[in-house]
Amino acid sequence: MAFLADALKRVKPSATITITQKARDLKAQGKDVISLSVGEPDFDTPDNIKEAAIAAIRRGETKYTPVSGIPQLREAITRKFKRENGLDYKANQVIVSTGGKHVIYNALLATLNPGDEVICVSPYWVSYPEMVALCGGTATFAETKIENEFKLQPEELERAITPKTKWVILNSPSNPSGAAYSRAEMKKLTDVLMRHPHVWVLTDDMYEHLVYGDFEFVTPAQVEPGLYDRTLTMNGVSKSYAMTGWRIGYAAGPQHLMNAMDLVQGQQTSGTSAISQWAAVEALDGTQEHLPIFKKAFERRRDLVVSMLNQTRGLVCPKPEGAFYVYPDCSALIGKTMPNGKVIETDEDLVMGILENEAVAAVHGSAFGLGPNFRISYATSDEKLEEACRRIQRFCAELR
Ligand SMILES: Cc1ncc(COP(=O)(O)O)c(C=O)c1O
Repeated sequence: MAFLADALKRVKPSATITITQKARDLKAQGKDVISLSVGEPDFDTPDNIKEAAIAAIRRGETKYTPVSGIPQLREAITRKFKRENGLDYKANQVIVSTGGKHVIYNALLATLNPGDEVICVSPYWVSYPEMVALCGGTATFAETKIENEFKLQPEELERAITPKTKWVILNSPSNPSGAAYSRAEMKKLTDVLMRHPHVWVLTDDMYEHLVYGDFEFVTPAQVEPGLYDRTLTMNGVSKSYAMTGWRIGYAAGPQHLMNAMDLVQGQQTSGTSAISQWAAVEALDGTQEHLPIFKKAFERRRDLVVSMLNQTRGLVCPKPEGAFYVYPDCSALIGKTMPNGKVIETDEDLVMGILENEAVAAVHGSAFGLGPNFRISYATSDEKLEEACRRIQRFCAELR
């Protein structure tokens, strides 16, 4: 009898974590590594949020909370959905979990039966297919193209839907491409979904606030109210409030789904940290004055990185609307030879070559299901980004 569960055979370790570890190892050997592989803002959590957590500790808010979250946070979340997305949810339609990742995991665990399919849009966030596999479902894929700026086209969505499709996971702005859907683009997708009433929508809106220029963020149930009864609208404080370590994600959806997710969570974690929940109340209800500062920095860095990568031999880099990632195409470099004589056969070879020769960590596109590309996270200082791009330029120029 095998000791480890068969389910684990279907799950790959996170490529982003593997690369980050390799970068750490090189750093420990004394190399000046610039890590562009992690999906985490380099800003500190705003002070008003930290103070709210400290005040919660002093008040003694340090005990178990209701499984789906403290009423004060669930109310704050309903206000957020109304104010920012025009969506009406009652507090008992809201769940708070241990990060956005946990929300998705709960939803899949609560709904997937063997054979159920979940459509992931390539390039996808690395965790979606693995979470689907862990929950006993089957991930299927709808591909995007660089010509469409990595945005899913309605025909491709239509093609990917089968009678077994239970969910489609949408993610705008996207990790890893940064692509975000305008209202008109989203409407074309929701029109397709309206024709397939058995398909549920899991919308991962983690990067909602990180959109640049005059781009207007939209979420599916807002664009098509007809989808409200089969949409789980997921969001969190990790990225927009620089709160990755506080582990707060949340979602709202139809009551029967939320009850099922509450049941799952009740037997898993009993709910997330009380202190973090009080901090999240302040994040959502308190001043939002840090946001324009974050956005301005990210927009400037996006423009810097896109411009420098587009001046790099063999790379083509679209300029995305949001998040803090770019996803350059490196197909022109496949088949080239590195200074050590090794031929670059895949985007992973290229990323490893850049890491080993120039000490810049990025993540290969094959980890996100679409390549040859790689992902750069520009959530780091302008100086480091400029230096990293110069190193990438030098590496690519030296390939033969
Ligand atoms: C698209 C996307 N969804 C969800 C998450 C998970 O967020 P959290 O850290 O709140 O679990 C991430 C984090 O990288 C992400 O990029």
